[in-house]
Parts: sequence; C-alpha cells; structure tokens
Amino acid sequence: MVVYDAIVKRQSQLTAQYYQLILEAPAVAEQARPGQFVHVKVNGLDDAALRRPFSIYNAADGMLAIVYKTVGRGTALLPLLRVGDVLSVIGPLGNGFPEVSADCVPLAIGGGYGVAPLSFLARKSGRRGTLLVGARTENDLLCLDDFEELGWDVMVTTQDGSQGAQGVVTDLLDGWLAKHKDVVPEVFACGPSGMLQAVGERALGAGIKAWLSLDRRMICGVGACLACVQQLRRPDGSEWTGRVCHDGPVFEAREVIW
Ligand SMILES: Cc1cc2nc3c(=O)[nH]c(=O)nc-3n(C[C@H](O)[C@H](O)[C@H](O)COP(=O)(O)OP(=O)(O)OC[C@H]3O[C@@H](n4cnc5c(N)ncnc54)[C@H](O)[C@@H]3O)c2cc1C
Ligand code: FES
Repeated sequence: MVVYDAIVKRQSQLTAQYYQLILEAPAVAEQARPGQFVHVKVNGLDDAALRRPFSIYNAADGMLAIVYKTVGRGTALLPLLRVGDVLSVIGPLGNGFPEVSADCVPLAIGGGYGVAPLSFLARKSGRRGTLLVGARTENDLLCLDDFEELGWDVMVTTQDGSQGAQGVVTDLLDGWLAKHKDVVPEVFACGPSGMLQAVGERALGAGIKAWLSLDRRMICGVGACLACVQQLRRPDGSEWTGRVCHDGPVFEAREVIW
C-alpha cells in the first residue's frame, strides 16, 4: 500500500452518471488485485475532507482505472479532472477476491458500479464464466462488453425492464441455479448490501461458496477509525467485529452476520 500522486491520463463519460478515470500510478497498479480499492483525495474539496473509496476496475502497464458514479459532493467534482492533473490515491487497499478455484465455474454477480471489480477479476482469472447483472435502468449497466470480449455469458435484468428481463439479479441467480444443477459454481459478488445479503443467503442455501465484496461508508480506509465495522462469524461459530476496509471488503458469505 502506498500514498501516490497519480496523474490523470484519460477521463471518459460512460453514461449520464458514470465515468471512467485512467490514472498513471505504477506503484499502485503493479500491486493491485481484483476486489481491492483505492482511497482517493478529491481535488476541490477542502484539505480536511475525507478520501473516497473506489474499486480498482483495471491495473496494467502502470495505469490504474476506476469507474465511478456521480452521487454526491466528491464524485460531482471528479468529472472536472483534466489530463495532467494530479490526484492523491492510497492503495491498493483491502484483501481482494481470492483466485477462482480450479474446479469451479466462476459466477460473477454485480449490481451498479459493483460490476467494475468483477470485470478486473474476469480479466485476471483467464477463465470463462457467467456474469449476472442487475441494475435500476439500462443507464446503470456497465462494463458488459468487457465480459463478452472475454467469452463470458452475460445475463441482464433491470428493475424497470429497460434492458433484459424486468426484475432483480437474484431472479437471474434462481433461474441459473435451477438450470445448472450439474455445475459447481463459485460466486463472486459486488453491489449494494441488500443484493449481497440475498445472494449470500441463496448461495449458502445451495451449498455454494460465495465471496461478497461489501460496500460501507469509510473514513480512514486503513483500519484505524472503526467507521466500517461488520459483525462476522468464524468457522467455529464464534463472532468477531471486522473492519471492511482492512479485513475485507471481500468476505465469504458464511462469515457475514447481516
Ligand atoms: C470498497 C468500496 C468500493 C467502492 N467502489 C466504488 C466504485 O467502483 N465506483 C463508485 O462509483 N463508487 C464506489 N464506491 C462508493 C463510493 O465510495 C461513494 O459513492 C463515494 O464515496 C461517494 O462520495 P460523494 O462525496 O460523491 O458522496 P457523498 O456526498 O459523501 O454522499 C452522497 C450519497 O452517496 C452515498 N454514499 C456515500 N458513500 C457510499 C457508499 N460507500 N456506498 C453507498 N452509498 C454511499 C451517501 O449515503 C449519500 O446518499 C465504493 C465504496 C466502497 C466502500
Ligand atoms: S474506514 Fe476506518 S476502519 Fe475502516
């Protein structure tokens, strides 16, 4: 983990609210693994303002990419960055996803910007699998081309029916599990908490290993402030309090106490 002054190399608008930002940050990029994140100091906020966490979407050749959604004060300022601007990032942070088990078929499940780290996972794994993605509308669907280029099957659902079947991503998961009874999948999921809980419960019910990347509001990002605590269960049943930024953000479904 390093604190690094990254240089903005490119910024592109993906949809009305989503952008991709490419940063030159070799010291961060060379260590980055899928599921890890960077903590970004947003230019234009006052010096005392908190950093904002973003999953690593890609890391290669000294470059680091994130995909972000404009939701508030900090992310509203990020589109103002121009090529050559300097942005302070800390990373890579967190544990990241484990490697896909050799004897399992990867089943990635994403909601909104949660698809970004799953794309990095798919690229790094060198494996083919299936992506199940849920979004509010077609304007919240991201990175689908990445998976298709890698030969993954992509199944889409939107809450308003604007693309794919109308519904939520667990509808897709239920259908997939019913259809692939002879396949042993390993689930890698990232998205809003409600989605992760529902995915985790289904995976546990079906006896499938599932890795969930939790999304929590963070302050320090390095385990020091306890802003992001999560109650967890050890294999022996005893409970402990973890920090999502430091002990996660990725946890196995059976560990998480909702
Ligand atoms: C490990 C991790 C990885 C993340 N990866 C990404 C990513 O790849 N792309 C992306 O766009 N965002 C990602 N986020 C969420 C992102 O950090 C927040 O959207 C961002 O901090 C909001 O900053 P803001 O100043 O624009 O919003 P604020 O003004 O701080 O808040 C605006 C609104 O956003 C909500 N919000 C703030 N933080 C979060 C959060 N963590 N989860 C859900 N809602 C939040 C607030 O409740 C509020 O409603 C990630 C968060 C975590 C913890
Ligand atoms: S954000 Fe400070 S401990 Fe996780």
